[in-house]
Amino acid sequence: MKKISLTGIKPTGDLHIGNYFGAIKPAVELSKEYDARYFIADYHALNSMKDPKELNSTIRQVAAGWLAGGLDPENVIFYRQSSIPEIFELTTMLMAFTSKGLMNRAHAYKDAVNKNKENGKIDEETDSGINMGLFTYPVLMAADIIIFDSDVVPVGKDQVQHIEMAQDIAQSINANYGQQVLKIPQAAVVENVAVVPGLDGRKMSKSYGNIIPLFAPEKTLRKTIMRITTNSQSVEEPKDPDTSQIFQLYKLFADQNEQAALANRYRAGGMGWGDAKEELFQVVNRLLTPIRERYDTYMADIPALDKILEQGARKARPIAAATVNRFRKAAGID
Ligand code: ADP
Ligand code: TRP
Repeated sequence: MKKISLTGIKPTGDLHIGNYFGAIKPAVELSKEYDARYFIADYHALNSMKDPKELNSTIRQVAAGWLAGGLDPENVIFYRQSSIPEIFELTTMLMAFTSKGLMNRAHAYKDAVNKNKENGKIDEETDSGINMGLFTYPVLMAADIIIFDSDVVPVGKDQVQHIEMAQDIAQSINANYGQQVLKIPQAAVVENVAVVPGLDGRKMSKSYGNIIPLFAPEKTLRKTIMRITTNSQSVEEPKDPDTSQIFQLYKLFADQNEQAALANRYRAGGMGWGDAKEELFQVVNRLLTPIRERYDTYMADIPALDKILEQGARKARPIAAATVNRFRKAAGID
C-alpha cells in the first residue's frame, strides 16, 4: 500500500513562478509516488483575510492554479478544508490534550507578540491584534494532518515546528488511552528546491512586490520580465551568466542546450540586457502558455471547479469520520 502524503495550501492570491517551482511542481511530482491528499486551507486563511469577496475568489484562484499546474484530481484527493466538518470536531478534541504553553511557543504567535513589543506594547497589550485563530493555528493544522492518517507531510522548513506539535499532541493522546488511536505524522522537508529570485534579485515573494505572476496575459508577462533589475553594463561588455538573475530564471525554463547557448552569448559580449530579457520571456511564455490556458478554462467555469473540489470532499469525508469515530470511542464519547 502506498504511504499517505498530505499538505495544505494557503489560499493567498497572486500565485507566482516561485510558488510553481517551490511548491506546485514538487507536490505534483510527489503525488505520483504517494496516496496524496491536498487541500485548500480556507479556514486557516480566515484568520487573516476578512474581506469575503477577496477570500471567495482567492480560494478559486488557488484551486484553479494547482489544477492548471498539473495536479490531477483523479489521482489526488483535492478538497477544501471547510468542506470537512470532521476536521473541526477533531480540533476540539485535540484542544483537550494541547497545553496552552505549547501554543505560547509557536513561532507565528511569538513573531506576532515580538512585533507588538517592538512597537512599544507592554504586558497584556503584547497580544493585541492576535486572534484565537492565529494562537490555536497549530491545533487546527494538527487536525488537518491527523484526521487523514497521514504518514508524511511535505512542507517548507518554516512549518516543521507545526508538524512537531502535531506529533506531540497525537503522542499524548495515544499515551493517555494506551493504544495507537492516532497515527504519528512525519515532516518531509522539501530541501533541494531552489529559491526562485524575484525581479529585484531578492527571493520572489508577493510580500516584496517582486513577482512574475503565473497566470498573467502574455503582454503583462513580457512587461513584467522587462522590469527585472540589471546593472549598467553596456551591450558590448561580456557578461557573467552565473551572477545574472535573468540567467538564474532562464535556467528554470530552458533545456541544457539552450542554457549553454545563452551562456555563450553572455560571455561573448554584444548582447544587451534587453535581449537577455527577451530570451527569458520566450522560454517563460512557452512553459506558461498551456498552464495559463488551463487556468483560464477553470476560472471560466467556477461551478465545474467547485464540483471537482466537492468530489474530493466526498472521497475525504468518510476517511475523516473514521478517525473521529475511533477517537470518540477511545475517549468514551461513543
Ligand atoms: P509568498 O512568499 O509569495 O507569500 P508563500 O509563502 O505563500 O509565498 O509560499 C507558498 C509556497 O511557495 C511555499 O511552499 C513556499 O516555499 C513556495 N515559495 C514561495 N516563494 C518561493 C520562491 N521564491 N522560491 C521557491 N519557492 C517559493
Ligand atoms: N500552515 C501551512 C502554511 O502556512 C498550510 C497548512 C495548513 C498545512 N494545514 C496544513 C500544511 C497541514 C501541511 C499540512 O503553508
